[in-house]
Amino acid sequence: VTTGSDGITPRDGWSSRSAFIFAAVGSAVGLGNLWRFPAEAGANGGGAFVLFYILCVVLIGLPILLSETLIGRHGQASAPESVRRMAYESKKSKHWGGLASLGVLGAFMVLSFYCVVGGWVLYYIGVFAQDLFTSGLVGGAFEGRPPGDIEALLPGLFGNGMLMAGLNFVFLAITLYFVSRGVSSGIEFVATWLMPAFFALFLAITVYGAFTGAFSEALSYLFTFHPEKLTGSVMLAAVGQAFFSLSLGVAGMITYGAYVGRDLNLAGTSLIIGAADTAVALLAGLCIFPIVFAAGLEANGGPGLMFQTLPIAFQQMPAGSFVGLLFFIMVGFAALTSSVGLLEAPTAWTKEKFNLSRVTASSLVAFGALVLGTMAALSFNDLADFHPLDFIPIFAGQGMFDVLDGLTAKFFMPIGAILTSIFVGWVADQRLIDGENGLSGGLHKFWRFLVRWLCPAVLTVILVVGIFPSIT
Ligand code: PHE
Repeated sequence: VTTGSDGITPRDGWSSRSAFIFAAVGSAVGLGNLWRFPAEAGANGGGAFVLFYILCVVLIGLPILLSETLIGRHGQASAPESVRRMAYESKKSKHWGGLASLGVLGAFMVLSFYCVVGGWVLYYIGVFAQDLFTSGLVGGAFEGRPPGDIEALLPGLFGNGMLMAGLNFVFLAITLYFVSRGVSSGIEFVATWLMPAFFALFLAITVYGAFTGAFSEALSYLFTFHPEKLTGSVMLAAVGQAFFSLSLGVAGMITYGAYVGRDLNLAGTSLIIGAADTAVALLAGLCIFPIVFAAGLEANGGPGLMFQTLPIAFQQMPAGSFVGLLFFIMVGFAALTSSVGLLEAPTAWTKEKFNLSRVTASSLVAFGALVLGTMAALSFNDLADFHPLDFIPIFAGQGMFDVLDGLTAKFFMPIGAILTSIFVGWVADQRLIDGENGLSGGLHKFWRFLVRWLCPAVLTVILVVGIFPSIT
């Protein structure tokens, strides 16, 4: 048992290896896999995007994931403090802690808009539950209503500021409830119960799609490689997606790593986390696209794919309201195990920094996220004309939601990951790293190469293209 800062009381942490795996997979698997991945794959032409995304996960995502968890495990503290400890032991500037402070701020910002989307999921759970109640189990969803009506549900929601803000509040409150209960009895509890439930529901819907939908069409759409489709912007989208999906660059995995015991092999565990996350993204594609194709709908639906196109497909499906309800419950579970991770990173820091109880610290952070998230929710309606970063060209004309999304994806995540790879690859004492990462021989050398050279170089390119989109 590791002890807390007083050296006596046992420190709150994962109760077992599998608990850590469930929690970390729970953090990684979320709206990024189910909502963002199919939308990005559709918007970027399918196969080329998907195959490049897989390459990014293996060559950039996994090495950074291992780097983050090992910093956390070594430091056994909040993310900034863990980095500071490793820097101190390496006789380097403690200011390196700043890299993780940036990450903590990034996590806070992702949390603020993530819970807004979580609110949309709650809305669709409500819509399908009500529909199941009124139209019964047998027929399709929304019987007798024209597809245009179903598509109009999302803009209808977007137009209602009160409802959007309220749903954001509810989703954030549920997240806060579990984080305030602690690592082993809150975060671990929600992950170990909801992730298996998620996987069961998810497999059921995928198998359903495979038998009733246009499965082979979806398969060839997602995995046929057309080299000419692999443009600069498609590559960029794929790297960004790999990052968001693996929860990297925003201190989340450093924070979760800090609750891991000394005896765990981090390399093997990171591989499991990365593989599970990627498998869910690919299966999400194989779950959503067959249903979409079978209904004769277009795949390039962008962000509306899950919230607009899929509900239309549920209409044409037997037991559509029931399948739709199950689907959105499953998405809600996955989103919750991610939002919990997003709240934990700033909570751990606030708790340590100001010496507060977990309940107070998590409530303070959640309150901040509520303020920012409410503005994000209202940026679709009442605050549509408020453009906080109008003076920066790439954010000009964007409301709070898009600004938070763009700032984190285009700046915080890549900067956080570049700094992490430089810190682990060049700054930290290699003896500390070698003792921690669980790799040896050629694999170790390969990992060092990726962290020192490939990751910073590729990520710098992404960052530059993010700032100057006109280059591509
Ligand atoms: N990886 C999560 C998802 O795919 C989102 C996330 C990002 C969670 C960063 C934690 C940290 O939905």
